[in-house]
Amino acid sequence: MLKPREAVRTLPSYHPPLAGRDGLRLDFNESTVGCSPSVLERLRTLDREDLARYPERGPVEARVASFLGIQSEELLLTNGVDEAIHILCESYLDSGDEALIVVPTYSMYQIYVMATGAEVISLSAGPDFSFPTDEVRMRISPRTRFIAIANPNNPTGTVAARDDLLQIAQSAPDAAVLVDEAYFEFYGETLLPDRGGFPNLFVSRTFSKAYGMAGLRVGVLAGDPGQMNALRRVASPYNVNAVALACLPAAIGDQAYIREYVSEVRQSRARLERALVAAGIPFWRSQANFVLARVGTAEAASAAFVNCMHRRGILVRDRSSDQGCTGCVRITLGLREHTDRLLTALQETLEELGIAQAVVRS
Ligand SMILES: Cc1ncc(COP(=O)(O)O)c(C=O)c1O
Repeated sequence: MLKPREAVRTLPSYHPPLAGRDGLRLDFNESTVGCSPSVLERLRTLDREDLARYPERGPVEARVASFLGIQSEELLLTNGVDEAIHILCESYLDSGDEALIVVPTYSMYQIYVMATGAEVISLSAGPDFSFPTDEVRMRISPRTRFIAIANPNNPTGTVAARDDLLQIAQSAPDAAVLVDEAYFEFYGETLLPDRGGFPNLFVSRTFSKAYGMAGLRVGVLAGDPGQMNALRRVASPYNVNAVALACLPAAIGDQAYIREYVSEVRQSRARLERALVAAGIPFWRSQANFVLARVGTAEAASAAFVNCMHRRGILVRDRSSDQGCTGCVRITLGLREHTDRLLTALQETLEELGIAQAVVRS
């Protein structure tokens, strides 16, 4: 009988709750408004010839590289950052190798590592989800071949310092070190210009969050030209579809749109944080487009919170099953008007569940 490989048979399944997402979607860290109008304009000009041809990645890669201030040889466009993670795992991990992650973090690191047959070494984040640089460095061994760090991290919104990340890259010259900057635009700090001295350091970016194009599936992986050559052998030459490639120049061409959206999200984040302080709800200071808050001490509390918000038309994400996140929910931020709706629903939910009586509006 046909059987998947042992590593695949034992893989945990990751099923994000995508079905029935009616309402204000603050559950997946997507943009609440979507892409720039110039992307839609470009989309409308596509004809059937554009779809008939196999997509050509090169010219758009050159545009994105120049936008990021790097060389084309240092960059690979991918089918979302997810594919970048997958390609890194396929390229560097063999069965018996080790990959280090600090939990809680983005689930797909673990999935793609495990699918190769390599072992996931999960280290716990420090107090308040601080990045445990020393523990990571101490755990690096000759078997360590991949280290994945989301910066800012998902679901916590916390960040690791630039020097700590570089120290890790320096301490693990035989491991591919991925600094996943999916939420870069909301944070503003990057390791992209620092890669020079570290041929094992990779930086990823996405067009799924600030750019509002999660449905088009485009990510960027940047690294040493020699390493990127190897990765290109693993990637399909057609990994990014023609529609996405056609739209990308328009997306990066409208930086005013991104700046404005990011600025609103940051204001929304500050408003939500003020509201949580006022209500006495513990949360973690975030550098991303979401905030993780602890609405109770048991899983039932976050489940009830998510249900209550859902009844008011607002989707937020229960993160209780993540390590150290019992009773936690993750709330994505968007425009001012979305935050108005969020804060109204939050106040009503806290009152209904008796979590806090304080005035939430700010
Ligand atoms: C840290 C992190 N990396 C990568 C991704 C996935 O990005 P993409 O849509 O580009 O595959 C996410 C999505 O939530 C994320 O939080």
